Amino acid sequence: MFHCILYQPEIPPNTGNIIRLCANTNVQLHLIHPLGFTLDDKKLKRAGLDYHEWASVQEYQTLTACLEKIQPPRLFACSTKGKYSYTDPSYQPGDGFLFGPETRGLPASLLEEFASERILRIPMIPGNRSLNLSNAVAVVIYEAWRQMGFQI
Ligand SMILES: C[S@@+](CC[C@H](N)C(=O)[O-])C[C@H]1O[C@@H](n2cnc3c(N)ncnc32)[C@H](O)[C@@H]1O
Repeated sequence: MFHCILYQPEIPPNTGNIIRLCANTNVQLHLIHPLGFTLDDKKLKRAGLDYHEWASVQEYQTLTACLEKIQPPRLFACSTKGKYSYTDPSYQPGDGFLFGPETRGLPASLLEEFASERILRIPMIPGNRSLNLSNAVAVVIYEAWRQMGFQI
C-alpha cells in the first residue's frame, strides 16, 4: 500500500528491523545504493528474516531509478529538519516515504527538492539526538497505515 525508501542505509540491524516492519505492514521496501552492507551480511542475517519477508525488498543504484520504477503519487521526506508533523498529512495509498542514512541524514541538496509540507518531522524533545532510523520508520509507517484503518 505504501513505499518506504531508505536512502543509503548504513547499519545492517536497522535495515533488518525495517524489513520485518515492512513485511508486517504490507509496505514495499526500497534500498538506495550505496549500502553500508550487503544483503547477505551476517549482521543482517542475524535478524533471522524469513524468506517471505525478503519479498518486499528491492535495490536501486539511484533514487531517480527507484522513483521512475515505483512512481509514487506523492513522496514525503522524513527529516528532523521538517516543519510539518508526520501526523499532518492525510495519507493516500501509494504514498512514498524517504528516510536518510543513520549518520548523515538526508542531504540538504535532496531536501531542497521537496516542498516544505512534504518534509515530515517526528516531534522530539529539543536538543536531543534524532531517533534511531528503524524507530522513525515504524512511527511514520504505522501512522500512515492507521489512517487506512490498518487495511490489509
Ligand atoms: C539517525 S537519523 C539521521 C541523523 C542525522 N544526524 C540527522 O539529523 O538527520 C536517520 C533518519 O531517521 C529519520 N529520522 C530520525 N529522527 C527523525 C525525526 N525526529 N523526524 C523525522 N525523521 C527522523 C530521518 O529520515 C533520518 O534521516
